[in-house]
Amino acid sequence: MGTKDPLEPTIFAIFGGAGDLTWRKLIPALFDLSQDRSLPARFAIIAIDRLRLGDDALRRRLHAGVNQFSRFGRAKAGAWNEFARHVRYLSGDFKQPGTYAALAARCSAIEREWGEKAHRIFYMATPPSLFGEIPKYLGKAGLARDRAWTQIVVEKPIGYDLDSALALNAVLAASFEESQIYRIDHYLGKETVQNLLAFRFANPLFEPIWNRRYVDYVTITVAEAVGVEHRGGYYDGAGALRDMVQNHLMQLLCLVAMEPMVSFDADEIRNKKVDVLHALRPIHADAVPESAVRGQYGPGTAGGAKVPGYRGEEGVAPDSRTETFAALKLFIDNWRWQDVPFYLRTGKRLPRQVSEVAIQFRAVPHRSFPPEASLGWQPSRIIASIQPVEGITLGFQAKYPGPRMELRPVDMRFGYRESFAVPSPDAYETLLWDVMKHDATLFMRADQVEAAWRALMPVLEAWQATPPSDFPNYPAGTWGPEDTQGLLAPGHRWPLPVEFKG
Ligand code: BG6
Repeated sequence: MGTKDPLEPTIFAIFGGAGDLTWRKLIPALFDLSQDRSLPARFAIIAIDRLRLGDDALRRRLHAGVNQFSRFGRAKAGAWNEFARHVRYLSGDFKQPGTYAALAARCSAIEREWGEKAHRIFYMATPPSLFGEIPKYLGKAGLARDRAWTQIVVEKPIGYDLDSALALNAVLAASFEESQIYRIDHYLGKETVQNLLAFRFANPLFEPIWNRRYVDYVTITVAEAVGVEHRGGYYDGAGALRDMVQNHLMQLLCLVAMEPMVSFDADEIRNKKVDVLHALRPIHADAVPESAVRGQYGPGTAGGAKVPGYRGEEGVAPDSRTETFAALKLFIDNWRWQDVPFYLRTGKRLPRQVSEVAIQFRAVPHRSFPPEASLGWQPSRIIASIQPVEGITLGFQAKYPGPRMELRPVDMRFGYRESFAVPSPDAYETLLWDVMKHDATLFMRADQVEAAWRALMPVLEAWQATPPSDFPNYPAGTWGPEDTQGLLAPGHRWPLPVEFKG
């Protein structure tokens, strides 16, 4: 499906409208879009949930979320009131056909009021157990029928493993066409993540060296300083591999490793990304210990304060074997990347929040400088910093000032904040705007999700079959279990996070 003008009349129906995601992310993002004049004039939000709430009570609740999470800070009364009049509440059980009949009636009433047909976006911001239910009811109620005017947005996790992902995709496909389905991976809405495409394919400088001939290895780090916060109940049944690697890190891997797209078309880009997943070298069950490391945080420190271990967190089993840290070594079997290791790591309660992709280049073929000149030598590298600061760093060797020839590593930096005097939108703003535009480029297609699960299944199965005996194996506030070093080939290192000013 092509893109459309996003300013056509739109009804946004949010299942889980009184829930955390709506309060924390969706409404602040929609409010921010309204402040940027990026919402259609004819725009309605129907928040659907089980609680018995009135429109006013819901609006008060959402207002508090906007005050806390909007990019513009506290909402001015006028701006909020203008936005809030578009928001209505519908109380209903997601497993009752009556809820969908009421939703259909609401949508029709809004369209009658506007005197024209509206695009309908159904957003599943519910617990994952409902992802397989809501599409069925929408289908039965006839709410999925109008293919060009209806979309469904699905949050992660898309399944718990390959089989459940296949089953969920089949449920979605029974009522909706793939072109109507928008599977969110909010990492794809982050500016630097999108900029990886621009950096690689809008510049002739880097692509010629972006391959096995020049690249020694690649690291992808998504480190979080926080623990599981209030999500212990969900997280304890998931773990880092399912929660972060299967989606966010795999998507980053695809963008770093994909072939150049021929056009900026959603399916063209997604085809190129899925090719990467198809080329991943399968991890054999008996090779899992050399290819994957898991960890769980114990008590330690965060931000100078003592914090409990994972097993002491709310909603977590006291003998939990769930991993809060995962690291992988992957290979992509194709002409570009044969034998270049891609190291991925993610974890909670690491020393700081930092997401970075680092491309480490090979050494020069011949060192012409005397050994004493290059004591501090480091391989050249390109680091894409995704958060907390957004930018790209090129690390190379330079001559240190003075009479002697002495080489030192230096950095050349592009920081978003210094280069562009505009704040980056939140990932959800970008993604919601894209849904309204019918642009699926930054959303996961069914085959991508399935291919990512397929690649990880051997690790999930091996970890399930052999429960960890050493958990917790890293103290909160450290860079994960020591075994993580053992994944790396000799001479390879996890990079230290880039220090950005500004
Ligand atoms: C979510 C995970 O998808 O991403 C969370 O479920 C994680 O566990 C979050 O904390 C991280 O997102 P961000 O944008 O804060 O890096």
